Parts: sequence; C-alpha cells; structure tokens
Amino acid sequence: MDAAPVKIVAIDGPAAAGKGTLARRLAAELGLPYLDTGLLYRAVGRRVLDAGADPADPTAATAAAQGLTAADLDRPDLRTPETAAASSVVAAIPAVRAALLDFQRRFGAAGGAVLDGRDIGSVIFPDAPVKLFVTASPAARARRRWLELTAGGTAVDLATVEQDMAARDARDASRDAAPMRPAADAVVIDTTELDAESVFALALRTVRDRLG
Ligand code: DC
Repeated sequence: MDAAPVKIVAIDGPAAAGKGTLARRLAAELGLPYLDTGLLYRAVGRRVLDAGADPADPTAATAAAQGLTAADLDRPDLRTPETAAASSVVAAIPAVRAALLDFQRRFGAAGGAVLDGRDIGSVIFPDAPVKLFVTASPAARARRRWLELTAGGTAVDLATVEQDMAARDARDASRDAAPMRPAADAVVIDTTELDAESVFALALRTVRDRLG
C-alpha cells in the first residue's frame, strides 16, 4: 500500500493578496507548521543592503543566501518597502533560489506544512496535494498593503505603494527562475471582493476535498 501523501498545502500568489492571513489560519486549523517563504527572500535582500551591496549582484546575493541564519528571519525591518524591493531582485537570481530550496523542502517533508510564496506549488512541492493561487486586483492589493504600512507607522502614499507593487509583480512573474504563476492544478481564489472569513471558508473546502 502507498504511504499517505505528505500534507503539503502550497499557497502562491502576488503581494498582499491575503496569502499570509489565509496560510496562518489554515495551518492553525490543520495543526500544521507554517512557513512564510517570502521572509527568506526578504532576509536575503536585507543582508545584501546592510552589506552596502547591490541586490542585483549575484555574488553578493548568493553569499547572503548561503549565510542566512535564524536570527536574520527575526529582524524587525523585513517588511519595509526598501526590503520588499530588494527581496524581489535577489529572488530572480537562480543561485539564491537554489540556496533556499533545501530548507523549504525539509520544512515540509517530515510531517507536512502550509507554505506560502510564489513557486511553492510549481517548483518547491510540485506534488503537493493542495495548491491554492490567491490573487486580487492590483488596486485592492495596493490599498491593503498601504493600510498595513501606514498602520505600522510607515509614511508612504498609496500611489507609490501601487507603483512599487506593480514593479515587483512584473519582476516576480517575468523572471526565468521559478516565475510566479499558478500551477496547472492550483485552485485560483480571487480575494478582491472577499473578506478574510469567506476566503478561509473557500480554501478550507478545497483543502478538505483534496486531503480527504
Ligand atoms: O511574499 P513576499 O511579498 O513577502 O515576498 C517577497 C519577495 O520574495 C517577492 O517579491 C518575490 C520573492 N519570493 C519568491 O520569489 N518566491 C517565494 N516563494 C516567495 C517570495
């Protein structure tokens, strides 16, 4: 008899679509650990900026990825717009992605996990039994991110957030290495008109269907 498939819930999609909120709730509901893989790329981008290097420099970015420590993931400045932009730039470098691959696979392989990012269902866990692609209109996502940033004390205007996000989306979707795209067998959830409760209910139904 085949072993039961490892319970991997892969959640991909663009910035501020509601992936993190959904992933955290699903993980709690299913009793699985949660990994925000965007945080890995943010931490790499931050390390490169702190070293005074260019995030587009493959040598500096790869060294930062290979030397990543748990403490780097705990830094308070990983959510700033500057770090977000750098994370998207380092994420386009294949050697950076390669350096972070094993950690992500090991995190989920033992007892299952909920992971969110851009390539979880397409590259990290292509055999995941549950794949969700969570998206929303650019205007809705920019507004959500702007509200988050201003509530956290970052003074930034909505138009700037919208522009930064569009640039990041374009870079994440057009790169050669693991571009952001829904896996062929992903269920797409558009959260533009949905509140967090409805998104959770919809996702949970899919999870129960797929995990049995
Ligand atoms: O999810 P996030 O916005 O925190 O991700 C930050 C950046 O990291 C994003 O612009 C692209 C990159 N990323 C990636 O390339 N692959 C992932 N699995 C997660 C994030």
